[in-house]
Amino acid sequence: MSGIITVTAPVNIAVIKYWGKRDEDLILPLNDSVSATLDTNVMCAKTSVCARPDINENEIWLNKLKEPFNNKRLQNCLGEIKGIARAQKSVDEEFLSWNVRIYSENNFPTAAGLASSAAGYACLVTALAKLYKVKTDISALARLGSGSACRSVYGGFVRWHAGVKPDGSDSVATQIVNSLHWPEMRVLVLVVADTKKHTSSSKGMQCSVATSELLKYRVQNSVPKRVNDICKAIKDKNFATFAEITMKDSNQFHAVCLDTYPPCVYMRDVSHKIVEVMHKYNEICGQTKVAYTFDAGPNACLYLLEKDVPEVIALIKKVFPTTKQDFVKGLPESLEGFPEI
Ligand code: PMV
Repeated sequence: MSGIITVTAPVNIAVIKYWGKRDEDLILPLNDSVSATLDTNVMCAKTSVCARPDINENEIWLNKLKEPFNNKRLQNCLGEIKGIARAQKSVDEEFLSWNVRIYSENNFPTAAGLASSAAGYACLVTALAKLYKVKTDISALARLGSGSACRSVYGGFVRWHAGVKPDGSDSVATQIVNSLHWPEMRVLVLVVADTKKHTSSSKGMQCSVATSELLKYRVQNSVPKRVNDICKAIKDKNFATFAEITMKDSNQFHAVCLDTYPPCVYMRDVSHKIVEVMHKYNEICGQTKVAYTFDAGPNACLYLLEKDVPEVIALIKKVFPTTKQDFVKGLPESLEGFPEI
């Protein structure tokens, strides 16, 4: 009988977006991507796993609801880990024959473009790897669950290398700098809507790969330079360059979504207002103090330095009062005099 293994894994917020696969089964991306992993326990998944002879079939519970286990990606992750365990003889055959029970919970909205699958799969494969005592690159296992999950297995800033090998063995994440490198960096998450998105990222990516001309341009011409430049900006702690690349990449990613046919529309009016407000704020400040980025959903993630957090929060509260009925407010003609602190 196994003990219960419990682990947590944080979400990561991409600054150079992964969008489009070159291999659907192995989850191999068209381009490198870069993200920051948030501190553990802020926005994270918590997963407990156990294997026992008296569990009749594999079970998974997500946010307290039992879900079907016939999800291909879930089965791929479990199958791959058991295969490695068998090869490494890390546990005995009897243990491998038992079914597993998995409980996973997020402390933030699931499937609303807040990287829930990244935290979820990073957590799941880490827990299963511990359960079966396997020694392997956890990022490659997490990638089989959800591409962006491979970046959540490291802290700090992380790069997922697209790789060139057909078997995906070089499509792994590496740490650019650890979480102590840029201690002033902060992320604010603005939840515009916490409902499930209409088009999943998998479906959206497939449609973009099939129909978007802009995606081809992005992969060949924009991303390689941006990845190099943002890695340098991160290492140099150059916020202005980091912020500009982050915003441009978010904008281009959503332009690709609109260039997809039929279009994938993830941002909403409020999301666009956030973009407008942040540009006006940077303009008024005479320097780039805040960067926005949006994943496949309407919610904004703002990157900024700790010293600017109170001012930016005051600005957000002023422009977007938090009571639901007042939520969608017009932008004032001028932001002069903002923020009021
Ligand atoms: O890992 P997935 O399949 O949930 O895709 C994530 C895609 C984006 O969040 C939009 C971008 C990214 O790099 O995280």
